[in-house]
Amino acid sequence: MNIPLRNALQQAQHLGLARLDAQMLLLHSLGRDPNDRAWLLAHDDDALPTDTLAAYLALCQRRAAGEPVAYLTGCKSFYGLPLAVDARVLDPRPDTETLVDWALELLAPCVAPRIADLGTGSGAIALALQSQRPDAQVLAVDASADALDVAQANAVRLGLPVRFVRSHWLDGVAGPFDAIVSNPPYIRADDPHLAALTHEPLSALASGADGLDDIRTITAQAPARLAPGGWLLLEHGWDQADAVQTLLRAAGFSDVGSRHDLAGIARCTGGRWDG
Ligand SMILES: C[S@@+](CC[C@H](N)C(=O)[O-])C[C@H]1O[C@@H](n2cnc3c(N)ncnc32)[C@H](O)[C@@H]1O
Repeated sequence: MNIPLRNALQQAQHLGLARLDAQMLLLHSLGRDPNDRAWLLAHDDDALPTDTLAAYLALCQRRAAGEPVAYLTGCKSFYGLPLAVDARVLDPRPDTETLVDWALELLAPCVAPRIADLGTGSGAIALALQSQRPDAQVLAVDASADALDVAQANAVRLGLPVRFVRSHWLDGVAGPFDAIVSNPPYIRADDPHLAALTHEPLSALASGADGLDDIRTITAQAPARLAPGGWLLLEHGWDQADAVQTLLRAAGFSDVGSRHDLAGIARCTGGRWDG
């Protein structure tokens, strides 16, 4: 029996889904853009065919079990770019746009900036920077061949000339760069929040006992690859800004500071390398 779209949304909410998630999954099941909620509001009386309802409820159950909406729809908007994403890469978070905003501000005076994005995942940061700065030379690095496949496919589809290299952080990368940006893994290995993130690659999330192993490695490697006056900008956990500032100062960076995300959390920390 066909039911109206609004009833299908109610069924999802009974499964415990947030309304926004239910709307995106319903739009996806209908073959529409998951972000076209205006259409849904205007058509909530429309009938949903039984087979579409079954497919939609199956997606809702997977969402209720913790799978990110982006994996279920296969797409995520980041900095206005429609990225293809799947379980091979981290689901890009809106908080990470703070890092992109900061890099764009610092690089505004620099002509044809040379930028490295370490741990590119879906390519979110590298592609956002390249789309905003067509004159930039952007290199995207990841240790995961799977992630690089996803990121490269996004670059081709979006027509953005980012270059990609598989490397353990900056091991095989020479520089110099005007900015090195990264959203590395930063969750403590014993953090109970990891239990809720089992659908995303562990290699994109956890980083040693205090969550700072990868940030330590990047901070140690970056000075030799930064041009004089170049910036290292790192995303980190909500309670790691002080620790990352300490690491950057100890490594010899100047102008060390942090940036807050839209929720007011110190989300990124960076510093300048004066050479
Ligand atoms: C938190 S995810 C960030 C993904 C993407 N930049 C974003 O913001 O959505 C961290 C990324 O770092 C990569 N990574 C983990 N260890 C690495 C290493 N040793 N060298 C390079 N990349 C690494 C993971 O494969 C993953 O893609």
